[in-house]
Amino acid sequence: MRNLILVGPMGAGKSTIGRLLAKELHLPFKDSDKEIEVRTGADIPWIFDVEGEQGFREREQAVIVDLCQEDGLVLATGGGAVLRQANREALRAGGRVVYLHTSVEQQLERTARDRNRPLLRAANPEQVLRDLMATRDPLYREIADVIIETDQRPPRMVVQEVLSRL
Ligand code: S3P
Repeated sequence: MRNLILVGPMGAGKSTIGRLLAKELHLPFKDSDKEIEVRTGADIPWIFDVEGEQGFREREQAVIVDLCQEDGLVLATGGGAVLRQANREALRAGGRVVYLHTSVEQQLERTARDRNRPLLRAANPEQVLRDLMATRDPLYREIADVIIETDQRPPRMVVQEVLSRL
């Protein structure tokens, strides 16, 4: 197998599940958002504030394309990593793609106390999540080899299902 790549919306559990999967598979774990922060030397809210979403997406594309060329990683991606066609092509070619599906209700619960997601600073984060899901769900599905339901399921159970369906 090349890389094991997790896609899905904010609050799907990509980082948590990714870390657990990496441990089980004895593979290194990387998170595209973390990699963007390391390369930029600044956190994601700073990038959105100073460079706008477009600036963030440029940085995200560079990181996604690079990480997908590596081998044997478990890779967690940001929720918007599927927006660009170039990213979707890189992700598809980069390994096995697992879509961690979740409901907007569960996303809201999991992201409620998080200040690190600029897109959720809006007055109505629930509507934002619904709108994002409407445009992105088809894109996650387009590149997914496997779709896993994460709603109301503890991380260990999700990990077991991913492993059984690889
Ligand atoms: C984003 C999701 C975030 C991060 C950025 C934008 C999005 O990653 O990349 O805030 O567009 O959905 P997570 O999915 O890890 O929260």
